[in-house]
Parts: sequence; C-alpha cells; structure tokens
Amino acid sequence: MDATFAGKVAIVSGAAQGISSVILRRLVEEGARAVIADIDEARAQARVRELAGRGCDVRFVRTDVRRSAEVDAMVERTVAECGRVDILVHGAGVGVHKEVVDLTDEEWDLQLDVQLRGAFLLSRAVGRRLIAQRQGGRIILIGSTSGNNARVRGGPHAASKAGEIQLARVLAMEMGRHGVTVNVVSPGLTDIGGISRSTQTPEYQRAFVAQVPLGRLATPDEIADAVLFLASDRARFITGQVLCVDGGYSAGKLAVQGPSVDAYYGQIGEA
Ligand SMILES: NC(=O)c1ccc[n+]([C@@H]2O[C@H](COP(=O)([O-])OP(=O)(O)OC[C@H]3O[C@@H](n4cnc5c(N)ncnc54)[C@H](O)[C@@H]3O)[C@@H](O)[C@H]2O)c1
Repeated sequence: MDATFAGKVAIVSGAAQGISSVILRRLVEEGARAVIADIDEARAQARVRELAGRGCDVRFVRTDVRRSAEVDAMVERTVAECGRVDILVHGAGVGVHKEVVDLTDEEWDLQLDVQLRGAFLLSRAVGRRLIAQRQGGRIILIGSTSGNNARVRGGPHAASKAGEIQLARVLAMEMGRHGVTVNVVSPGLTDIGGISRSTQTPEYQRAFVAQVPLGRLATPDEIADAVLFLASDRARFITGQVLCVDGGYSAGKLAVQGPSVDAYYGQIGEA
C-alpha cells in the first residue's frame, strides 16, 4: 500500500457515495485514516465495512453539513478518536435542476446550504483545528465546471459553486500564514453510474460530451487523482486555485467547430 498519506487524518463530506466515496477510498488506500461526514447512514456504513475489511481505518460520523453544531461535533469527535485532522475534502452535494423562475425558496436554500454553507461550516471548523495544530493542512472543495460556465436549470448549483471558488480564494489568503492550502477541484460531468442517485440521463450526458475536447465523461478516479495531488506534499506551493478536471470542457466552445466555420474562414481567405 502506498503510504503518501501515512499519519494523516482526512475528513471527506459526502463520501457515502459518488465521487467523494472514491476520493475517500483513494486517500485511505494511500495510508490516511478517514472520516465519512454524510447524512446517508446506510451507504456510509457499507463503505466503512468494505474498507475496514481491507484493513483501512475509516469511520462514519453522521453529519448534516448544513448544521454548524453537527459539523463542529464531527470535527471534535475526529480529533478525539484520531488525535488530529490534516485534510478536509468537501464533496457533499445535491442536485436541483429547474429554471430560476420555477424554483421554490426551499430548493434554492437546500443547494446553497449543502454546497456553499457546508463549505463555510466545514472550512471554519477544520480551519480552526488546523491553526491550533500549527502543522499546516489541506482544504479542498469539490466545485464544478458550472462554477465558471453557466447552464440553464443550474441556477443554485452554479451560484453555490461560484461562491465556493471565491470562498476558497479568500480562505487561501487568510490561511496561508498558517501553512494551510485551500483549493477547488472542479469536475466535469463524471461517470458515477451505479454508485450515485444523481439523475444524469443518457441524452444529457451525450449533449455534454459533445462539448468535451477529450470526448468522454470523467471517471471518479480522475477527480480523485487531482484531489490526492492537491492533498499531497507535491502541491505544497499551490493555493487559491481552481483545477478543472473536465477533459477541456471549460477551455471553450466546441460547437463553433465544423464545416460551417471552415467555410467562414475560407471565405475570409478568398476575400
Ligand atoms: N457527478 C458529476 O458529474 C459532478 C460534476 C461536477 C461536480 N460534481 C460535484 O461533486 C460532488 C459530488 O457529486 P456526486 O455526483 O458524486 O454526488 P452524489 O449525489 O453521488 O453524492 C453526494 C453525497 O452528498 C451527501 N449529502 C447530501 N446532502 C448532505 C448533507 N446535508 N450533509 C452531508 N452529506 C450530504 C449525500 O448523502 C451523498 O452521499 C458534488 O459537490 C457535485 O456538485 C459532480
């Protein structure tokens, strides 16, 4: 087992399933001890059993990331049981897909609270602990390409992810003197198939992939690769950054490629 993270303790929110569960698995496979902070007890306990069966040190602390008392208690319990905390990955998320004029107050609040308020509450609680430990640390927020690229029916999602990016930049400036780096990993559309309850229709995936220069969805392991890099000592001088793991989706618009564009430039050439 690679021991890149031996002696480190990681908290991963949303790790009961989806991308964050793969990030958590990869961290513990590389030697970290880890805490799943999630509300889905059944799936989280299944992850714990699966990883504990392979000799990994993983525990579940039921935590609604929208509630400061639960977040603070989870960090306190982590320190009580593991002795310290070194790495925070905030990947808890929810999907609300409606046009802004159709959203209820509750739908707006749910997405902003889980993704942005959760980022604040977790970063505050873990940040306080990292400062007290005086040994630096890593905070990594899972963003989305929608933090930079607006999409229809993605109002609260895009707003929360854009907010996370600015929160990370502010935190990077405030926490630098404590040796804590703060970055965002923004996945493109990721193939979480059988392990997620997210509603990604084949039609949506096809339309999305048509805009990806590398021509496919991301895998959760590719998102984890970026997170593990930023969590490692190799990324010690990187902070306040957004790393898009999206096959080039955020680089521009593929839709303007093709015969009509070639013809257009051909006409210019002839003129
Ligand atoms: N899947 C994608 O294609 C994709 C693309 C870009 C960004 N992302 C982002 O990556 C992250 C993970 O996405 P995913 O698709 O793997 O999600 P998912 O739906 O598979 O998992 C989300 C997890 O968050 C947990 N959660 C929800 N509300 C919570 C709360 N209040 N407190 C604690 N935990 C809570 C859920 O129980 C679940 O385990 C999200 O931030 C998402 O926005 C995903």
